[in-house]
This record gives sequence, C-alpha cells and structure tokens, in this order.
Amino acid sequence: MVIALIVAAGSGERLGADRPKALVQLAGRSLLQWSVDLMLACGGADGGIERVVVALPPGVLAPPGTIGVEGGAVRSESVARALHAAGPGDPEDLVVVHDAARPLASPELVRRSLSALTAGDGGDGASLDAAIAAAPVADTIKRVQAASGLGSGDGDDLAPEGVGVVVETLDRSALWAVQTPQVFRRGALQRALDVPAEILARATDDAWLVERLGGRVAIVPSGSENLKITTPLDLSLAELLIASA
Ligand code: CTP
Ligand code: MG
Repeated sequence: MVIALIVAAGSGERLGADRPKALVQLAGRSLLQWSVDLMLACGGADGGIERVVVALPPGVLAPPGTIGVEGGAVRSESVARALHAAGPGDPEDLVVVHDAARPLASPELVRRSLSALTAGDGGDGASLDAAIAAAPVADTIKRVQAASGLGSGDGDDLAPEGVGVVVETLDRSALWAVQTPQVFRRGALQRALDVPAEILARATDDAWLVERLGGRVAIVPSGSENLKITTPLDLSLAELLIASA
C-alpha cells in the first residue's frame, strides 16, 4: 500500500496572512487543495497512492477524499499524528510525506520519488530507507559564526553588521536544497518518529530523523520550481509560475 501524508497544520507566521498558510489561495485553490489534488492524481495505477491523510490546523475540515487529523506543535509531530491517523499498515508500505507549503510539486516528481525508493540501491547496491526530492544549490553557501559567540563580548570585535564572520565556504557541488515529497518505508519512518519531543522539535525534515538512526537516504533530483511558500514573495512567484505555464 502507498499512503500520502500532507502536513498543513502550520500557522504561516512568515507569510503573515489572515488565516493559516494552508488555507491561503493560490490561483483559485487553497495551498492545501493543490497538494491534495496532487496526491489524488497519483492514485490508482498512476502512482498507487490509496490513502491521503492531512494534518490540519484546529477546526479545519479535511478536504473530500482525505482523512483529517489535528496537527501537532511542530512539523514532525504533525507527520507522526498523520501517520497514526492513516490506520494500521505494513512496515513495508510506502509513505509519501509532503508539505502543503509546496503546492507546485508534480505527479511526475512523486512517482519518481516512489520509484527511487522501490528500485532502490542509491547507486552502490545497498538498500535505501528514504528517497527525497532536492534541488542543486545555486548560491555559494558559507558557514558563519554568530557574532554573539565572538571575542570578549565588549562588542569591539563584532562584524560591522553584527551578524558574524565566515568560518568556511562549503563545496557547492556537494550541496542540495531539500524539498518534499520525501518517501519512506512505513516501518523506518515510524521508528524515526518514535523519539522524544525535543528531537522531533529539532527536525526540519523527516529524512534527518531517519539519517540520525543510520538510515540511507537517496536524493531525487528536482527543480527549484517546486518552491516552498514561506513569504509573500514566494506566493507572488508561484502565481507568476502558474500564469506562465
Ligand atoms: N507544519 C505542520 N505542523 C506544524 C508546523 C508546520 O503541519 N506544527 C507544516 C506546515 O503547514 C507546512 C510545512 O509543515 O506545510 C512546512 O512548514 P513551514 O513552511 O514552516 O510552515 P509554517 O510553520 O506554517 O510557517 P511559519 O514557520 O512561517 O509559521
Ligand atoms: Mg514553520
């Protein structure tokens, strides 16, 4: 069986809309509905997704064709609640986790992620625990030591902008910006989520929870058009991309 979990329970503080981010409209549909339609389009023979579970803000009804559950205090807790709400299953079942904040993911990317995991040897013969969409990083990325951690604390040696100084420049050719969908075997995802709340709170994606248990995670190359709606600028960009498609 293949299950999709859509996490949509965040408040969308950085977007600053008058409602939870998942309910904000994009080209005539809520962000949540974009992801629900995506997963429903991957049903049956066309990807095999049989059940769609949605983690929602309090008081929001589940869209038709989905199972709704109230989300948790942090993102990975919402994933854990959605997995539980999916009902009993087999550890070998496939689970697609997707952020409602990424309305422009394509069915093709979902299918490619599922195939990467099931075909799965990550290129070297060993089996995989997850396959995650990611885009090559275009910017040069530098690791920075925060200004507050510098020097004597009297302020004299702070960087001019007060942010910090560069510690190293990372090798961009090895860096990938991680997205969703992220695909897991149900058993591996459940083990990764069965950790104390403070570890769930530190997870910015679910693959990290699998990695910290020694799991092998493969990258599924994706494009930057699968953008995450975080700020009003991202929403404008998504509107433009849809209008020009
Ligand atoms: N999410 C969730 N439950 C939470 C927090 C986040 O289901 N407790 C979901 C969001 O709805 C979103 C995805 O996780 O689809 C990625 O989170 P993010 O983009 O940070 O969304 P928000 O937390 O809503 O936004 P912000 O951080 O700006 O408040
Ligand atoms: Mg957030």
